[in-house]
Amino acid sequence: MTENIILVGFMGTGKSTIGRSLSQTLSYPVIDTDQLIEKQQGRSIPEIFEEEGEDAFRDMETALLRSLLKQSGHIISTGGGIIIREENRQLLRKMGYVIWLVASPEEIHNRTSRNNNRPLLNNEDPAGTIRKLLETRIPLYKECAHLAIETNQLNFDEITTGIIESARYYFSQPE
Ligand code: S3P
Repeated sequence: MTENIILVGFMGTGKSTIGRSLSQTLSYPVIDTDQLIEKQQGRSIPEIFEEEGEDAFRDMETALLRSLLKQSGHIISTGGGIIIREENRQLLRKMGYVIWLVASPEEIHNRTSRNNNRPLLNNEDPAGTIRKLLETRIPLYKECAHLAIETNQLNFDEITTGIIESARYYFSQPE
């Protein structure tokens, strides 16, 4: 496989962990868009949101995707809101095989409540925010992804194996 495998999904669905696991198993380098933006900017995502706002962060995501368009043979794990912009959804599909990691709102709440590095959930009602954001985003993940994987009942090894098998099949098909 020389193309990219791209992970999309809501905050707390395990994109970074699964990305690292895929990277180890396939010996593909991993690109984590949140980490790369933080590195390029020399500041954290909460700082970017606080100093410049969400729109500026979304511009950074789009600029980064445009710059990655020629990359191949990478695992790319993305920030949960990268699918909001239509241009990003199109870029992601052009870049490779897009997997949507799905988890229940309860599981997402559980996983994201362990730290406070997600500005969109730093408010009085993170569970309500998760439900509202999911409602608007689910159709966008659906539109962008080639495959959805329900993660609630699976461990990381099972998810990794499932992704590799389906990616092999996808890349073996004629266009
Ligand atoms: C965001 C998700 C975060 C990060 C930023 C915004 C979102 O990434 O990009 O806080 O809008 O869902 P993770 O999905 O890796 O938490």
